[in-house]
Amino acid sequence: MIILGIESSCDETAAAVLVDGTLRSNVVAGQDVHAQWGGVVPELASRAHQEHIVPVVEAALRAAGVDRHDLSAIAFTQGPGLIGALLVGTCFARSMAQALSIPLLGVDHMQAHILAHFIRDGVERPTPEFPFLNLTVSGGHTLLVLVRSPLDMEVLGTTLDDAAGEAFDKGAKVLGLPYPGGPLVDKHALGGDPRKYVLPMPQITGADMSFSGVKTAFNNLVQRGVQADPAFTTRELPHLCASLQQSIVDILLRKVHRTARRTGVRHVAMSGGVSANSALRSQFQAMADREGWQAHVPPLAYCTDNGAMIAMAGHFLLEAGRTVGLDAVPHTR
Ligand code: KG4
Ligand code: ZN
Repeated sequence: MIILGIESSCDETAAAVLVDGTLRSNVVAGQDVHAQWGGVVPELASRAHQEHIVPVVEAALRAAGVDRHDLSAIAFTQGPGLIGALLVGTCFARSMAQALSIPLLGVDHMQAHILAHFIRDGVERPTPEFPFLNLTVSGGHTLLVLVRSPLDMEVLGTTLDDAAGEAFDKGAKVLGLPYPGGPLVDKHALGGDPRKYVLPMPQITGADMSFSGVKTAFNNLVQRGVQADPAFTTRELPHLCASLQQSIVDILLRKVHRTARRTGVRHVAMSGGVSANSALRSQFQAMADREGWQAHVPPLAYCTDNGAMIAMAGHFLLEAGRTVGLDAVPHTR
C-alpha cells in the first residue's frame, strides 16, 4: 500500500510517501513571504502553494524512490484551513487521483495532527495506547481531544478565542519579532525569568480555554514599559518571552491535568506546531511523570505541518474504506 499525502491548509506546502505504513519521504516547503506582514496572508499563501505543489510532490516521490504509477491512493488535507490554500491541494489531489485512477482520501487536518503519533519511520518510539487524551496546539487551533481509536475522536475542550499558537505569534509581534513568532519566543525565553511578569490566568470551567486575556495584558505590559523606557523591550526581551511562554503553558497544562484526571486516561499526548515549544514539552513530560501517565510527543518534524501526518491519516482512512469522490470539496472549518 503506497500512499501519497499532500498538505496545503495554511502556509506549508508538504508531501510525503508512506509505504505499507512506513514513512519513506517527507518534504516541506515553507513560505517566507508572510514574515514581513506579521501573519499569513491568504492570497499570498495560495499563490505560493500553486508554485510549490508540483516540485514538492515530485521531490517526495523521488526521495521515496516511488513512481507515481505505483501509488495506491492519494490523501490530501480537506480542511480546516484557508480556502484558497486548501483548494490548491484539493484540486491537485483530485486531478492526480483521476489521472492515475486511484482512490482519494480526504483528511481532517486536526485529526492528522493527532495521528502523527503513529508515523513509523524506522526509529523505535512507543505509541499512545487508546483511549488517550491529546492536546492539539497549532497556529489556528487549540483542542483537547479524547482519542478512542484512530478514527474515533471526541473534542472535549477548545479555545474560546485565540489559538495557543496565535497567542505566541501575537505576543511576539508586540515585541517586534517577525512571523511566526512562536519559535523566537521559545528561543529568547531561554535564560529569562518566567515568573518576572505575571499575566492573568483565565477562570473558565470545564476543558475550554482562553488566551485573549493574556494577549491583552501582555500588550498593555509592553506598551506601558516602552512608554517609561524606550529600551524596555530590548532590555527585558528574555523575561518578557519567558513570562508570556509560561502563562500560555500554564493555561494549557492546567486543562490537560484536569481533563486527564477526569477522564481517567493513562496516556497523554500532544501534537501540532506549538508542541515544538521547549517549555511546554518539558513541563508536559514532568506533569505526566508526577501523575504516572505515559507522555507522547512526536518528533518536531511531525509536530509542525507536514505531509507525513496526512499520509498517515490516509492510511487509516484507506484501511477503513473511507474514500471520497473525485468531486470532494474543501471545508474551511
Ligand atoms: O501546526 P502548525 O505548524 O500550523 C498550523 O496548523 O497552524 O503550527 C504553527 C504554530 C505557529 O503559531 C507557531 O508560532 C507555533 O506553531 N510554533 C511554536 C513553536 N514552534 C512553532 N510556538 C511556540 N514555540 C515553538 N517552539
Ligand atoms: Zn497544523
